[in-house]
Amino acid sequence: ETQRWRIDPETFGLDGNPLIQEAASYLKKGGLVAFPTETVYGLGANATSREAVASIFRAKGRPSDNPLIVHIADPTQISHWVGEISEKGRTLAHRFWPGPLTLVLPHRGNLAPEVTAGLPTVGIRIPSHPVALALLKACQLPVAAPSANRSGKPSPTQADHVWKDLSGRIDGLLDGGMTGVGVESTVVDVTAETPVLLRPGGITLEMLQEAVGEIVVDLGLESEIKAPRSPGMKYRHYAPHGTMWLVTGEADALTRRVQELADEGFRKGKTVGILTTEEKVQEYQADWIIPCGRKSEPESIAKGLYQSLRTFDEVGAEWIVAEGFPSEGVLFSVMNRLIKAAEGRVIKA
Ligand code: TXA
Ligand code: MG
Repeated sequence: ETQRWRIDPETFGLDGNPLIQEAASYLKKGGLVAFPTETVYGLGANATSREAVASIFRAKGRPSDNPLIVHIADPTQISHWVGEISEKGRTLAHRFWPGPLTLVLPHRGNLAPEVTAGLPTVGIRIPSHPVALALLKACQLPVAAPSANRSGKPSPTQADHVWKDLSGRIDGLLDGGMTGVGVESTVVDVTAETPVLLRPGGITLEMLQEAVGEIVVDLGLESEIKAPRSPGMKYRHYAPHGTMWLVTGEADALTRRVQELADEGFRKGKTVGILTTEEKVQEYQADWIIPCGRKSEPESIAKGLYQSLRTFDEVGAEWIVAEGFPSEGVLFSVMNRLIKAAEGRVIKA
């Protein structure tokens, strides 16, 4: 049976918290514990244990050639697992850790090979969520953790998402309420001279450029043939059960095109959903009009995105039309996830 430990992240003195100690003891025994981070919930296991890491892939139903991110609390521990870090890598680490940034670095070969899927590099991050940090300190281990969803579902931003996907399949869940950013960490490969953005996320492209100058963007989306730099990119990502369309454009033209596409769904006799923002809920007609956040606050859109995508599946939407956003700041990562969810069905208004 899966344990569920409720922890208020605001609690003072989490480091000595007995529930966190109990969760850490499962990790030390090779168990699986889901925990909140500032991005999404992670499913953690001891990154030095082949058996423990193998059980992550089993619990998630994840292909084993997709490598995992290793979470660490103490920056002085990193040199134990990782070889030389480039100057730009160090600059990014100083600027954004703890926080929603994963750096792809050369590893020393002492982590479980399952973590890195045989690659010479490993993704490392120091999360900033107090519960994640307290757990990492309590177990004194590098913790491999992918997002704590069943493969093919959106990443979990609430403990209930993890519970629905994984209860009975893992040892425990640290329930720390809603996560912060709502999309996963930004993944940057810093093994070459110019850093390469592999996955947009909580740290924006603009923030990276401001810190280290030029960044190559390689999201592996252009072509299926070209070997993707980030192995995760080659997998079919979350797509809702219904057919999803993503409409880009501006103002009235965008609104009109979204409604037109929704109407096409009605004519086909489908249960129609529209993904929009709170400001625009009144402008549409559909069976399900789901706002993911406020247009005036881009961060709220990232935060609410995965919950809204889960909602469409729960209500049985068969035809989903999503409003696109300008690809700037945190909305660049939102658009990256929406393009994948729409499986390339992107329509320009
Ligand atoms: O915010 C996050 O990053 C969350 C929380 C739990 O920390 N974790 C997460 O893990 O999103 P996951 O496994 O769902 O995504 C890991 C991503 C994948 O796209 C994977 O391909 C990439 O990081 N990755 C991991 N190691 C890599 C490596 N050595 N080289 C290139 N990409 C790597
Ligand atoms: Mg994931």
